Amino acid sequence: MTVKLYRNARIFTPLDPGHPLRGKEQGEIKEYSRGAILAVNGLIEKIGDEKDILGGLSASYVNEERDMEGVCVIPGFVDPHTHLCFAKRREDEFKMRLDGLPYLEILKRGGGILSSVKAVQNATEEQLFCNTKKLAMAALEKGTTTVEIKSGYGLDLDLELKMLSVIQRISRETPLDVVPTFMGAHAVPTEYKERPDDFVDLIINEMLPKVKDQGIAEFCDIFCEEGVFSVDQSRKILKAAKALGFELKIHADEVHDLGGAGLAAELKVRSAEHLLAASEENLRAMGRAGSIAVLLPATAYSLKKPYARGRDMIDWEVPVALATDCNPGSCFCESVPFIFGLGVMNMNMTIEEALVASTLNAAYAINRQHKVGSLEPGKQADFLLLDGETPTTLAYHAGSTSVVEVHKLAERVA
Ligand code: NIG
Ligand code: FE
Repeated sequence: MTVKLYRNARIFTPLDPGHPLRGKEQGEIKEYSRGAILAVNGLIEKIGDEKDILGGLSASYVNEERDMEGVCVIPGFVDPHTHLCFAKRREDEFKMRLDGLPYLEILKRGGGILSSVKAVQNATEEQLFCNTKKLAMAALEKGTTTVEIKSGYGLDLDLELKMLSVIQRISRETPLDVVPTFMGAHAVPTEYKERPDDFVDLIINEMLPKVKDQGIAEFCDIFCEEGVFSVDQSRKILKAAKALGFELKIHADEVHDLGGAGLAAELKVRSAEHLLAASEENLRAMGRAGSIAVLLPATAYSLKKPYARGRDMIDWEVPVALATDCNPGSCFCESVPFIFGLGVMNMNMTIEEALVASTLNAAYAINRQHKVGSLEPGKQADFLLLDGETPTTLAYHAGSTSVVEVHKLAERVA
């Protein structure tokens, strides 16, 4: 048994009431101005004011003690939406977008997601693993301790399984906790361009059952967007996935208001992502359905689009989480500190709301709330040390990560 005591820390954490935080609750953070954490075998046994933790604690019970010298401690970040597993960057497309070519137009011409599919086809599994690991480790250094990673650059059974097995390997061979998502419905492959419904059937009849059999994905996600998958096609796929026991996510209303957020509410998905163009009516319906809005401000930044209405969503009682969306196309960013800053500065979230959005609500968005997302007894001792007095530094010190140490299960990992 390993018992570690961290004392004399300024600790900031959401408290988990058993549901995602919304409205006023989303702005509530517990502060222990001179706090301590007692971790046993990587899990938090006690956390609170130092005097309460130290009182009655026998010195012989503790194997390791660290005086944190007043440093600021927050939970490890949870990034609930990434496409970290890819084989090749698309810097050329970024330049094309800067020159005015729209993101969806690049896809329509066979580039975009489809060019990442070609790169995955041409890469060995080892190459794909090395690329993904490099990015996963970069995210870890910036404070991400739990990450969701999607497939979706395969679009055929073997390639999707190749991606999912790389994602499993990231989980085994890095300190990160990884949540795998199957996203076979990320784009319509070129050979199905004229008969997209056949591809929908292929996903439902072949891919979903095989992925389920192998037990290598927990979530199913889909890109519901003009020129990609319609609301009806999305409904069909998500319903089939639900029947097989997958948890559901949906890329909804990223560029056009197709009604993806409305479908999210109808199906009571765990989370709907992007939502830049979603209507107030559908967003409010999502809130009533209990679906979490996963907002991706670095994608708005990279696409030069107006940001999602994060402030309004919180005021409308929709639980809001933040994620990087890290991918080679619409948003090449693995940094939670960067999206934290964008959430505060460009979506008018408070520091407390952004902290909840990148920890506890993010954990709920990937069904890891019982393990991570807040520093409380029974959860993992996953925490970050910040260079600053409070979590405000994450937005204040722009362009810096502010994260100086990353601890996972009470072990320093970065
Ligand atoms: O969330 N929009 C769809 N999927 C990703 C982008 C994937 C890509 O361009 O490679 C997103 O933005
Ligand atoms: Fe995405």
